[in-house]
Amino acid sequence: AIRLVTTADSLRAQSRLLLTQKNGSSLGLVPTMGALHAGHGRLARAAVEQNDVVVASIFVNPLQFGEAQDLDRYPRTLEADMALLEEQGVDLVFAPSVEEMYPGGQPMVRVTSGPLGEKWEGASRPGHFDGALTVVAKLLHLGIPSTGLPGGSAFVAGAGGGLPAYRAYFGQKDAQQLVLVRRMVADLNFPVEIVAVPTARAADGLALSSRNRFLSDEEREAALVLSRALHLIEERANTNGPLDVGSARALIESQPLVRLDYLDVVDPVTLEPLAENCHETPFRGEGLALVAAKVGAVRLIDNVPLSS
Ligand code: PAJ
Repeated sequence: AIRLVTTADSLRAQSRLLLTQKNGSSLGLVPTMGALHAGHGRLARAAVEQNDVVVASIFVNPLQFGEAQDLDRYPRTLEADMALLEEQGVDLVFAPSVEEMYPGGQPMVRVTSGPLGEKWEGASRPGHFDGALTVVAKLLHLGIPSTGLPGGSAFVAGAGGGLPAYRAYFGQKDAQQLVLVRRMVADLNFPVEIVAVPTARAADGLALSSRNRFLSDEEREAALVLSRALHLIEERANTNGPLDVGSARALIESQPLVRLDYLDVVDPVTLEPLAENCHETPFRGEGLALVAAKVGAVRLIDNVPLSS
């Protein structure tokens, strides 16, 4: 059965115990803020398929919220979350308190996301990515698989020996976050492999999000223009046509319940907009179509990777 721990010490002890019991040679970490849906389930599934031991974290990180109001109304559904994770085969849930993660208040030293964190989502959510990267840095460190038995006797994990493999799972849904996490791990030499998991969608195309529950039926229907607009661009890229971002924007702007923030095709590493001529001449190479819009009072994001 799935186990729940709430402190860093018990996380270390339990993950070490599980690795020993299973003679495991790999550990997967799935960081979340809870209010889990099938998209998170997809991350957990991938982690279970690829690792001997899987830990999911559930922590609503105050550092990455702008307004206290958003933080307060973030859904907390621990029991249902545990059931979903157990169903996917996750071994251990780490659900620390705010005091456990930030003893005595907020950390004085934080991770800076740099210029990549100021674009797109960062432009409308100042400090968001610094807060997200800071907690991801902490979680990635807390999750590092431990290889020593308590008492100091050496424990060599796995049949082949050596350090256990360590992987962490992030959704393509939050494309900018994924780019930034990869960048942090590369730039600051974190001992972990980042695995990206494709966006899980409802049958009608809407990207799954914990925010979808705040949409009225009418708003949910209107929100479909986001995935439809991305799909238009994707089809053009797949057929090496001009991307015609203008038509995709117009589709979104034709929906009165939706207020478009941005829809752009960017370089998947630098997040810089691709040169305008890519929008007119046939598309070749790698790109990322990003969209953000307010549907009623709910801000939604979506994206689609392009490759041709
Ligand atoms: P949260 O919004 O709970 O998302 C946790 C993970 O699930 C993220 O990697 C996100 O990209 C992924 N995810 C969400 N919806 C998805 C979908 N429809 N398909 C695939 N993956 C999806 O992102 C965060 O939490 C936080 O910023 C966190 C990384 C935990 C740091 O606090």
